Amino acid sequence: MTGCIVGWAHTKFGKHEGVELETLIVDAVTDALVDANVAPADVDEIYIGHFNGGFVMQDFPASLVLQAHKDLRFKPATRVENACATGSAAIHQGLNSIAAKKARIVLCVGVEKMTEISGAAIGEVLTKASYFKEEGGENGSFVDIFARITDSYFQKYGDQSDALAQIAAKNHANGAVNPLAHFQKDLGYDFCRTESDRNPLVSGHLKRSDCSPVTDGAAAVVLADTETAMGMKKAVLFRATAHVNDFLPMSKRDVTQFEGAALAWQKVYEQAKIGVDDLDVVEVHDCFTTAELLIYEAMGLAEKGDGARAIAEGWSTKEGKLPVNPSGGLKSKGHPIGATGVSMHVMAAMQARGDAGPLQIDGAEIAGVFNMGGSAVANYASILEAVR
Ligand code: COA
Repeated sequence: MTGCIVGWAHTKFGKHEGVELETLIVDAVTDALVDANVAPADVDEIYIGHFNGGFVMQDFPASLVLQAHKDLRFKPATRVENACATGSAAIHQGLNSIAAKKARIVLCVGVEKMTEISGAAIGEVLTKASYFKEEGGENGSFVDIFARITDSYFQKYGDQSDALAQIAAKNHANGAVNPLAHFQKDLGYDFCRTESDRNPLVSGHLKRSDCSPVTDGAAAVVLADTETAMGMKKAVLFRATAHVNDFLPMSKRDVTQFEGAALAWQKVYEQAKIGVDDLDVVEVHDCFTTAELLIYEAMGLAEKGDGARAIAEGWSTKEGKLPVNPSGGLKSKGHPIGATGVSMHVMAAMQARGDAGPLQIDGAEIAGVFNMGGSAVANYASILEAVR
């Protein structure tokens, strides 16, 4: 592969009342350029990942990045969108520009400001990323979509409520020590397993603790071609990347398995010449606990229908053979749609360099990222390894 992450930044995720979208963008971009020690004038291209869809009135955010520094004026800047994988889409576009030799240094930022509108309006905006005529509008929210997936999986493989609660508890415990996370509270297994006033059922089998929250935030990375990166103070190489889109309608797919996700993982393993056992740590897309369960299977950590084993045996805990979401994942760190994919790459890059502080997995060298849009519709996988 031809690109490296040479610097990054990450705002705290959470509810940023009164903070504008452009402030989140400018903060992340400014800090990432400082972290990379790259002068704004040396940036060749800019990609911004922003889903929006009605969360904020301000659309067309590409040039908002330029507000971080006067020397970014007149740089080519483009907004990309691929539902919840919008952040990874921005990074992959940046890598494409580098591979095409159109850019040496690319600035990628992901952002979302979700909390300005009501809960009901947020739900409506999110369903625009479903196959609307069958799955959106009066037919339900994204929680309903994943509740349906959960139902189908339970019907095929039996009730997995214990595993879902174990995943929620693990990710909340991990997020409790992440200063950038939306939630920094270890809720515990019993709380996550039990329906209560504080943890009501939201849809089907899914309780509040099974869902990622509604979050504001931004994250940014600076990418450089490998040759340039080797002269910089830090460089985390993309050993492999894959992007696989599947059909949008759930009615055209077997929702009890994430086939597009499995193909994306297969491609990155082949490219990087590694297998699942070679990974030291991964950040994966746990928009709902069911998603993490199905991703265990898609990435080959567990057999089809046996994803629960990965959490029951403790494999995916921080102490396990493959720590999954030591950052707390979307569940606890939060899921500001456009920022999520960039955030996952920041967390993975920090792990690969040993820079993850309280989140650090000892000896982690090879880090995986899996970010998806919709119910495994837009699937992006990356394998990262620090080379400086
Ligand atoms: N997990 C755990 N706790 C949560 C939570 C979540 N997802 N969402 C909110 N809470 C907590 C809040 O912090 C608050 O706690 P407090 O009383 O101690 O302050 C309490 O629950 C109530 O918060 P509120 O915002 O009123 O909850 P809600 O019931 O309106 O919203 C969900 C909860 C799950 C419906 C909402 O987070 C949601 O819609 N999530 C899914 C978002 C989504 O679909 N994203 C796209 C994925 S593809």
